[in-house]
Order: sequence, then structure tokens, then C-alpha cells
Amino acid sequence: MIKEKLGRVTAIIGAQWGDEGKGKLVDIVSSEYDIIARATGGANAGHTVYVKDPQTGETKKYVFHLLPSGALHEHTICVIGNGCVVHLPTLLEEIDVIQKSGLKTDGRILLSDRVHLLFDYHRVIDGLQEASKGDKKVGTTNRGIGPCYMDKASRKGIRACDFLKQDVFEAKLREVSGGLMKQYGFEYDVEKEIAYYRTIRDRIVPMIKDTFVYLHEALESGKSIVFEGANGVMLDLDHGTYPYVTSSNPMVGGLGTGTGIPNSHLTSLTGIMKAYVTRVGAGPFPTELLDETGNMLREKGGEYGATTGRPRRCGWFDSVVAKYSARMNGYTGINLTKLDVMTGLKTVKIGVAYKYEGKTLDSFPADLDMLEKSTVEYIEMLGWDEDISGATKLEELPQNARNYVKKLEELIGTPITFIGVGQRRDQMIVKK
Ligand code: GDP
Ligand code: IMO
Ligand code: MG
Repeated sequence: MIKEKLGRVTAIIGAQWGDEGKGKLVDIVSSEYDIIARATGGANAGHTVYVKDPQTGETKKYVFHLLPSGALHEHTICVIGNGCVVHLPTLLEEIDVIQKSGLKTDGRILLSDRVHLLFDYHRVIDGLQEASKGDKKVGTTNRGIGPCYMDKASRKGIRACDFLKQDVFEAKLREVSGGLMKQYGFEYDVEKEIAYYRTIRDRIVPMIKDTFVYLHEALESGKSIVFEGANGVMLDLDHGTYPYVTSSNPMVGGLGTGTGIPNSHLTSLTGIMKAYVTRVGAGPFPTELLDETGNMLREKGGEYGATTGRPRRCGWFDSVVAKYSARMNGYTGINLTKLDVMTGLKTVKIGVAYKYEGKTLDSFPADLDMLEKSTVEYIEMLGWDEDISGATKLEELPQNARNYVKKLEELIGTPITFIGVGQRRDQMIVKK
């Protein structure tokens, strides 16, 4: 039913500052698709999926960092595309978790031979770079993401295809880590790292594949694909709140560069937006709530990072961000998530314009100083008290919640096609 709606080649991306609830929707749609592919980012991502065990009735939580969030559906093939940066020990830990739940993984996980490998020294450098920034810290996830993409861009990265040739791989690792130790002045036991990588060869080598060819042949033979975005488009290296961004392109363009499948193949693109906004790490957040309402959203919404456990900053829905995000990516539909968390608020606000020196800005500005000096104009609407966590249809939502959804739809200029009313798979309204 969902595939009929989204078509054979669909993509799901984070439309705000990350943690919008990508994992949940990807898990839901994956039940009807053949292949799930990640294209960008690395283990900075933390995608949560809650699943009810049909036997025990217990709800189990999974957090995916590198594995696509469709991994819990045994019929799927999970692809980690060339645009990702991959810390192999983390990948193996995740595979172990799903194997322990009784799921088959052999032959189901494919790692692009063009993927850049992320080593422990990238994490050390991430920490050093952050420390050197003082109060201008980005607040990274400390997973080595920026330093690994730096090596990629400066053309000294080590790729999965290098790993296939043990002597080439080990020589490169010695050379690159030696250079970085000199440059950044840290100690690092590369021989210990090499010894570890020898022990995992047998598990990793069979996963490495030319996923460009695999994905194109799959498309040619009629298979269906879900592209799973990571992070969020407001963290995009080009279009986000630079320098408070990640080091890749979470926007729709990243799916093409990160897999080699042109965006023209997409039959739909769903942007995920929380019904309010959160951000973790430093950087501008115009509608941030530093008051009781912000605290309520954080506690009720469980707004603590899935990767780092850090408290997330919370604020009102920002339609300036939403419009910018929609223009940048051309969503065919929006999944509004966590509407249930707003239950109980007497009134709800939506940021609708930024004013700078008395004038309304046309769009989200590049200059963070200008953003800092801007004020946000809000509209206010009535909230709702009714428990909506069991709603399965739009008509079952209280009138005030429906008014809020309708207003957001108007402001974003894109249909809201899914509405999340709870953490579990079954707590999703699929709009007709
Ligand atoms: P992702 O990085 O975009 O996959 O999102 P995260 O997993 O980091 O954070 C989203 C959190 O919100 C997770 O704990 C999800 O289980 C939860 N979540 C997703 N959708 C909903 C929803 O509609 N309602 C509630 N209450 N929680 C949700
Ligand atoms: P998912 O996929 C939320 C943020 C970090 C930091 C900035 C740079 O779970 O939505 P990095 O480690 O990438 O160099 O950090 O980007 N960030 C995320 N915030 N969700 C994410 O991923 C994020 N990935 C990166 O907090 O502000
Ligand atoms: Mg997350």
C-alpha cells in the first residue's frame, strides 16, 4: 500500500536539524521494498526504531548508526553507499546486535568499494579540532566525521577497495596515520590498529562490492529501493548553518553523489519534520525555547541524542526553515512526526517570518550574524488535550490538532502525507 503511494524508488531525508524520526519511517516503508541504501554521513547518525516482539509483546529499541534502518526486515538488502564514511568496528557491532535478535545478515549487507574508511585517529582529530575552537565549538558527535571527509577531500583517504588488498591497505594506513600524527601532534598505535583489522578481514571482505553496479542492475531488473538520508538538511555543508554543520550533504543531492544513482530515478521524496524543532550541538536556532515549554518538549519527547545522549535543544516549528528546506529538496510529501508530544499545550506557536532591520527576509540567510540579529514573528493557535497516540486516521485527531497540521501544510507548501503519533511502527497516520 505504501509502495503504491511512494513509487518504486523512494527517498526519505531529514528536513530540519536531524533526529526528525527518519529511522521510524524507513523501517515502516522497508517492509514493502527490496533494497535500503544509505548515501551520506557515518556513525554521527543515530536512527531509532521501536518494534513490538510479536511473541512476547515487548517493545524493543534498536539504534542504527551505519546500517540502514530497514535492516530489521529480513528480506531487504542493505547498502552502504560510496558517500558514507565507515568505522568498521561500529558496523560490526551493529551487525552483531541484529544477528543476536535472530535475524540473518549473511549476504544482506553490502559496503560500497568506494566508501571511505574511518579510523580511530579520525576520532582523536575530531576531539583535537573541537578543543582548539574554544567557545566556537561545533559540538560534533565526536565520531571523526569531519576529519574523515577532510582526508577524502584532500585525496588521501583510504577506501574499502584498498582494504581488499591487505598489503596496500596496511601500507596506506601506516603512511596516512604517520602524516596525521606529525601534523596534529598525537600518539597513535597504528600496529595495534592493523592487527585488529587483520582479525576482521574475513567478515568485511565479503561485504565489499561495487554497489554502483549492484544498484543500477537492481533498478534495471525492476527492484524497489528506499534511500535513507542521514543527519538533516539544515546541517548540510553547503546549505546549512555553516560552520555549524556536518561535513557532507544530507540534502537530496547527496543521495545521488553518495550512491551513483541519479535523482531523476526518484519516484518520491519524503522530508521528515518534527511538529516542533530540535537541534543538538551548537549553532543558530531562531525559534529555540529556553523556558518551561522547551523543557516539557525535551522531557516528554525524550529529546536526548540517540548517538551521544546529549540533551537536544527544543523550539517551536519554524516555517522559514521548512520553506527553505522544501525549496532546496523538492519534497513530494512530508512526514510530520511527534505530534503526540505537543498534546497538553494550551496554545502552540509557529515561527512564520524573520525580521532584520525592520524588513522581512526573503529566505533563510547565509550570514549567521544577520540571523542572530533577526527577530522571529510567530502565529499562535489553540492546542489540544486529547490523547492522540492511538489515532489511526486524520479524522480521529482533535480539531485543534487538525488545524495545526493544516496550517503547517499551507506554510510549507507541501502535502503532509504521514503523521507520527508515537514511537512504534503502528503509531503512524498514513494520509490518503
Ligand atoms: P532520526 O535520527 O531521524 O532517525 O531520529 P532519532 O531516532 O534520532 O530521534 C527521533 C526519536 O523520536 C526516536 O526516539 C523515535 O523513536 C522517536 N519518534 C519518531 N517518531 C515519533 C512520533 O511520531 N512520536 C513520538 N513520540 N516519538 C517518535
Ligand atoms: P541523525 O541522522 C542530529 C550534528 C552534530 C553537530 C554537527 C556536526 O541521527 O539525524 P558531526 O559529528 O557530523 O561532525 O557534527 O552536526 N549532527 C547531528 N545532529 N542528528 C544527526 O544525525 C546528526 N549528525 C550530525 O550534533 O552539531
Ligand atoms: Mg538521530
